[in-house]
Amino acid sequence: MIKKYIAVLACVLSLPIGHAVADEAPITLRFSHVVADDTPKGQGALMFQKLVQERLGGQVKVEVYPNSTLFGDADELQALQDGKVDLLAPSLAKFDQYTKQLQIFDLPFLFDDLEAVNRFQKRAKGRQLLRSMEDKGIVGLAYWHNGMKQMSANRALHAPADARGLSFRIQASGVLEAQFAQLGAKAVPMPFAEAFAALQSGKVQGTENTWSNLYSQKLNTVQPFITETNHGVLDYMLVTNSRTWYAIPHKTRTELEAIIDEVTFAVNHAAEQQNQADRQRIQSSGKTQLVPLSPEERQAWRTAMQPVWEQFTPEIGADIVKAAQIVNRKQSQ
Ligand code: SIN
Repeated sequence: MIKKYIAVLACVLSLPIGHAVADEAPITLRFSHVVADDTPKGQGALMFQKLVQERLGGQVKVEVYPNSTLFGDADELQALQDGKVDLLAPSLAKFDQYTKQLQIFDLPFLFDDLEAVNRFQKRAKGRQLLRSMEDKGIVGLAYWHNGMKQMSANRALHAPADARGLSFRIQASGVLEAQFAQLGAKAVPMPFAEAFAALQSGKVQGTENTWSNLYSQKLNTVQPFITETNHGVLDYMLVTNSRTWYAIPHKTRTELEAIIDEVTFAVNHAAEQQNQADRQRIQSSGKTQLVPLSPEERQAWRTAMQPVWEQFTPEIGADIVKAAQIVNRKQSQ
C-alpha cells in the first residue's frame, strides 16, 4: 500500500509544474450582481474580468452577469453557498441574515462621508468584519465603495416629519426598516430589480439610494424630489464561497488576490466621481428637484435617528460602533 502511494507521489512530483496547470480546463468564476455595468460595482466586475483574462488567461476565466440576469437579491447569497455562483458583491445591508455586525454600515448618520467609511474599512475592526461570515462558508475579499445614500420621494424631505405616512422601498435590512419606522414611514423591503416598477406604480412613494444607482435604474425619472441627505453608506463586500476559493491552487489564488487589490483601488477611487457625475445628470434632466439640507436640518435628522443606534448597538457590538464613530473627522456625537 505504502509503495503504491510513493509511486503515485513520485509520478505527481515528476510532472513539470506548469504542465499540470496547462492541461487542466480553466477555472471558471461566475460573478453575478444586480446593478448596471455603468456603476461602480458594474465597472469593478468588468475590470476584474479583463485583468484576469490578461494575466491568467487559460487558467482562470471570469463570467460577469449584471443586472440580476443570473441571480437577484432574493437568491444570490443562497446560490453562493450552494456553489451555483462564485463571486458576488452584495450591498453590505444584504448580509443581515448572515451576520449582525455588518449592520454597522446601515446606521443612519453614523459616517460623516465616504472618506470616513474608507478609514473604518481599512482599520482593524473593519478588516475583521471581512471574516465575520466564515462560519457560513462566506469569505470577504474586499470592500468596494458605491457611495452615500440620498432619500427620494414624491415630496421634499426637509425635516424627518416630512417622511411620515410615506412608503419607502428598502433593501432587506433590519436597521433600514427601523430607520423608516422611526420616521413614522413604512419600509417595504424588495429586490433592487423591482424598485423602478414599485415607484412607477405608486406601490411605494420613496426610496433611498446612491446617485449612480438612482440614475442607472432611472429611479429619478419616477421621483420628483431627491433630498440630499447623505444619511448612510451603500457599499459592497466582494465575497466568495470558501469551498470554491480554497480549492483554487495557492499561486493562482495569490494572483487573483493581487488583481482584486488593484480593482478595489480603482473602484474606490472612481466611485465618488461616478456618483457626482450622475448627480449632475439627474439635476440637468430638470425632471427631479434636488433638495439640499441646511446644517440645522441635517442635525435634526441625525437627532431623530438616535433611537435606531440605541436599538442596534447591542447586536452590532459597542466596540464596533465606537470604532466607527472615531473615524469621523469632526465628532458631532
Ligand atoms: C446594489 O447597489 O447592489 C443594489 C442596492 C439596492 O438594492 O438598493
